[in-house]
Amino acid sequence: MTTGIGYGKVILFGEHFVVYGIPAIALGIANKAIVEIKKAPQNEFVSDMPGTIPEYTLRAIDFVLKAMNLKDKFHVHLKGDLPTVGGLGSSAAFCVALVRAFASYYDLSLRDKQVNDYAYEGEKAFHGNPSGVDNTVAVYGGAIKFIRTKGFEKLKVGTPLHIVVAMTGISSPTAKMVEEVRKLKEDDEDEFRAFCDEAGELVKKGEKVVSSGDLVEIGRLMNENHKLLGAIGVTIEKNDIIVKVALDAGALGAKLTGGGGGGCCIALAKDEKSANTILLAIKKTGFDGFCTTVGL
Ligand code: PMV
Repeated sequence: MTTGIGYGKVILFGEHFVVYGIPAIALGIANKAIVEIKKAPQNEFVSDMPGTIPEYTLRAIDFVLKAMNLKDKFHVHLKGDLPTVGGLGSSAAFCVALVRAFASYYDLSLRDKQVNDYAYEGEKAFHGNPSGVDNTVAVYGGAIKFIRTKGFEKLKVGTPLHIVVAMTGISSPTAKMVEEVRKLKEDDEDEFRAFCDEAGELVKKGEKVVSSGDLVEIGRLMNENHKLLGAIGVTIEKNDIIVKVALDAGALGAKLTGGGGGGCCIALAKDEKSANTILLAIKKTGFDGFCTTVGL
């Protein structure tokens, strides 16, 4: 049995707009996808994680094998502690883990850039038109600024970010959400350009305050970002309920993270104690979640 690992992520600023060339800021989290492989007569997929879609996953296995120019077939087993609920980059983490497992099986010493490129090919099986932010942060971790046409740079995180991740329990395929945004853009190009400009300004400010460690301003920008995601129709009532519960419980800011249509939200806490209070309030409202810290 050979194993590979890929980490999950949250998007602090800029999801969806990143598909159209606006920068996004993403944070790697400690939750990971673990993939175990063994050679088999045909490709097979089993998962310990609820909510995976075998049809997409088998296609991703095919895409990755093809990209890596490998001819064998594998039994692939997904494990780990990264919920596959949408919004946490679980498909990208899976693809990265898969590439690393294949590299280990064939004793290939791949550079991170190669792992990223191969994983991106796998991501296409899930997303259709992925920006590449998820696989990039799954490979490199930490905080990154990602621009689709230019690549990524690592960001300094001025103060550790205590983040509460909350799951709506409703998962919409990212491909569907990206497609809905594409239709919205097609319906009114001018309006969408204005939203993109707003998102671009927000991410620019976000980058500065992430590196200076101005938590209050990061929180304020997260709230603005959530409104912008509402304006493009990717939030649902449960996302708004979680955001409100988190803010009422003392969060500095809260927003949807990732593709939306449910999926996950994130809230920024001023410290670990506050993060636990926010998580408790979210759980009392009936949602599951966990705390994570970025930039320690
Ligand atoms: O829902 P997730 O974790 O797959 O994140 C999707 C992020 C999007 O910006 C909506 C799409 C993309 O390819 O960047």
